[in-house]
Amino acid sequence: MSRERVFSGIQPTGTLQLGNYLGAIKGMIELVEHYECIYGIVDYHAVTVPYNVEKMPQNKLNVAIGYLAAGLDPQKATLMVQSDVPEHTELAWLFGCITSVNKLEHLPTLKDKLETVDFFSSGLLNYPILQAADIVIYKATLVPVGRDQEAHIEFTREVVRKFNNTFGQTFPEPASYNTPGAIVPSLSGEGKMSKSVPGSYIALTDTPEEIWQKLAQTLTDPRRVRRDDPGDPEACPVIWQLHHIYTPEEKRAELAEGCRTAGIGCLQCKRELYRLMMEDLSPLQERWRDLAAHPDYVRDVLREGAARVRPIAQATMAEVREKMGLAGV
Ligand code: AMP
Ligand code: TRP
Repeated sequence: MSRERVFSGIQPTGTLQLGNYLGAIKGMIELVEHYECIYGIVDYHAVTVPYNVEKMPQNKLNVAIGYLAAGLDPQKATLMVQSDVPEHTELAWLFGCITSVNKLEHLPTLKDKLETVDFFSSGLLNYPILQAADIVIYKATLVPVGRDQEAHIEFTREVVRKFNNTFGQTFPEPASYNTPGAIVPSLSGEGKMSKSVPGSYIALTDTPEEIWQKLAQTLTDPRRVRRDDPGDPEACPVIWQLHHIYTPEEKRAELAEGCRTAGIGCLQCKRELYRLMMEDLSPLQERWRDLAAHPDYVRDVLREGAARVRPIAQATMAEVREKMGLAGV
């Protein structure tokens, strides 16, 4: 029996940050052994907001390098660029015709996005439609994403239901797959870590020294003004959450006790986090450097990836055209 499919994507909008890695890429890696996985660099999503044209090719390459450096084996998962499979946008057009503008205008993700841009394109409004098409053009049933994407996955299920009810059963309803951690918080403590908010993130390509500096400057429980002030880990908005991701439970209990009794200082607690974080990131960074020195290898992976999955997308489009009465005259 053929395996169920998985699709996910990352926008080439800048540096990959820790939230992408912990919230999305780790989940993508977990699914590789059990599903047929397709992971995209979703460049047509990245152009829904004003962007830097010159930097786009490098940004796309960097997402591919990030996937590979994090440990995705291109023999086991297909890595591809969205615009290399134009059927995604073709299906998105058709989905646009069964989606109300009102529905799109009320998605919470749109409100958040609009706070960061001053040009509201119709492409941005239609962003979730293209995401739905990305997923179901491969009839994927599982989507490894950060928890901030839930509204988009729910929207995808609604589009699928509408399509199936109108034109006949065609697509499965996909579910999201989340890694155990919650949304990785911004280093400022306000909102989520995001590459579009300077000062909020640790980039996967930051040097160990930069990562340490960022952690050292991150705000902890405001009551711990001096080393001897006792604190409460639950009032430590960023570092403690990261400990939940990186630190084994027993060690975490020890740190919590140290914090409450002022037995340890915040710097010591951060050093423990830094050590575990670098154990995770160092091998990734080493592979990153190696891949960055061999961009043609990465380009080949993407070219082969698109060639491998395009026939699936084409078969889905043939079926969709048939169901919608568009197949012939
Ligand atoms: P984007 O960079 O917006 O294309 O996001 C790519 C993936 O990373 C998506 O699955 C997001 O849900 C995930 N992601 C981005 N930032 C965070 C974060 N701070 N915490 C958890 N997941 C995140
Ligand atoms: N909207 C996603 C994000 O910002 C990126 C994305 C585009 C995506 N298409 C997708 C994620 C399909 C999962 C599946 O993170």
